[in-house]
Amino acid sequence: MMTIDVETLRAWLEEGRPVTVLDVRPTAERAEWAIPGSIHVNAYDALRAHDPAVLADVDAPSDGPVVTVCAAGKTSQIAAEQLAARGIEALSLEGGMKAWSLAWNVAEVSLAGDAVRVFQVRRTGKGCLSYLIGAKDEALVIDASLDPQVYLDLASREGWQITHVFDTHIHADHLSRSRQLAERSGALLLLPDQQRVSFPFTAVRDGDTLATSTLQLTALYTPGHTLESTCFLLNEHLLFTGDTLFPTGIGRPDLEADEQQTRARASALHHSLHKLLALSSDTLVLPGHTSTPVPFDGIPIAARLAEIIEAVEIIHAPRDLFIEYIMARIPPTPPNYRQIVTLNELGLLPESDVTDLEAGANRCAIS
Ligand SMILES: [Fe+2]
Repeated sequence: MMTIDVETLRAWLEEGRPVTVLDVRPTAERAEWAIPGSIHVNAYDALRAHDPAVLADVDAPSDGPVVTVCAAGKTSQIAAEQLAARGIEALSLEGGMKAWSLAWNVAEVSLAGDAVRVFQVRRTGKGCLSYLIGAKDEALVIDASLDPQVYLDLASREGWQITHVFDTHIHADHLSRSRQLAERSGALLLLPDQQRVSFPFTAVRDGDTLATSTLQLTALYTPGHTLESTCFLLNEHLLFTGDTLFPTGIGRPDLEADEQQTRARASALHHSLHKLLALSSDTLVLPGHTSTPVPFDGIPIAARLAEIIEAVEIIHAPRDLFIEYIMARIPPTPPNYRQIVTLNELGLLPESDVTDLEAGANRCAIS
C-alpha cells in the first residue's frame, strides 16, 4: 500500500508541489475541519462497503499524485487502492485527519525597514497561531503549540537562538509546548503572573518590558478570556493578542467559570479591550487562534486595529450591553478542555497520543 506521512504532505503543500488531496469523509465530519484546498467526495460508507464505483468521477490529475484522506487513515487506503486500480497515482495519508492535527505552515509578517522578523507558525487544522520573533541572533516564541523541534528548526534556519518563550495565557484548547520548548532551547519561560501552574516560570506583569538592542516587547495585562490573559506589544506596532482579540471577534470569557464569574470576566474583557483600542490604530493585531483551517498561502492572519474597530461592532457597546451580548453568544464548550487545562497547569504533555485530546476545531472566540 502506498502511503504518505503528514510531514511529507505538509512540506509538499508548503512548497506548492502539485498534489490533489481527496477527502473521503462524511460531509458532517468535513464541515468540522478539512485540509485547505482539498476536494471532497462523500464516499465513506460506500468505500466501507467496497463499492467500486464511488470514486469513478474522480479524474486523474494532470500533475502529481492524489492523496486520499479519511478520519484515521484506514478508509483512505481503500480509496487509494481503488484509484490505483484505475492507474491513478494515489497515496493514503497515514493517520488521517487525526494525524493531520499536528500539521503546520508558516507565514512571515512583512515589516518593512525593521530589523526584527516575525513568523506566524500556524497549526493549520486546529487553527493555533504561534509566533517566532527574531532579531540578530536571538529569537522569542509566543504561544508554542507545536513540537518544540518545529521552532528549534525554524530558528536555526535563520541563525537564531531561542532565548525567551512566552504564553499569553493558560490555554484550554490545545496543549502548550512552551515549557518543553524552554527546556529544549535553554530559554527563559515567561508566563502571565498567576497561581495556576505548578512548575517554575518567570512571572510577567502589566508593563513589564523585554528590551534588546533591536526589539522591545511590552506586556499588557488584559484579563477577560482568562484572568491572567496578557497581550504583548512588539516595537509599539505589533500586538500579540492571544485569545483576547481576534480580527473578527473577541475571546470567550466562560471557560472554567460559572455564570457570575463569566459576567465578571466579560466585564474585565470590556475594560481590557478598551485598553487595546487606545493603542495606535495602525497597530497590527496578531491573534492566538483562527477558527478555520489555515491555508498554505504564506499570508499572515492579522488585522490592523483600525479594521477590527470597524469589523467588531460589539467592542463599542457600553459595558452592560457588552456583557449581555457575550452571555447570549457563548459557543459550545471545546471538547476535553478540562483535561487540557489540567495538563497545561501541570506543564505536562499526555503520555498517550496528544491528538486524542486536541481533536476538533478551535472554539476560543465569540464573533
Ligand atoms: Fe484560550
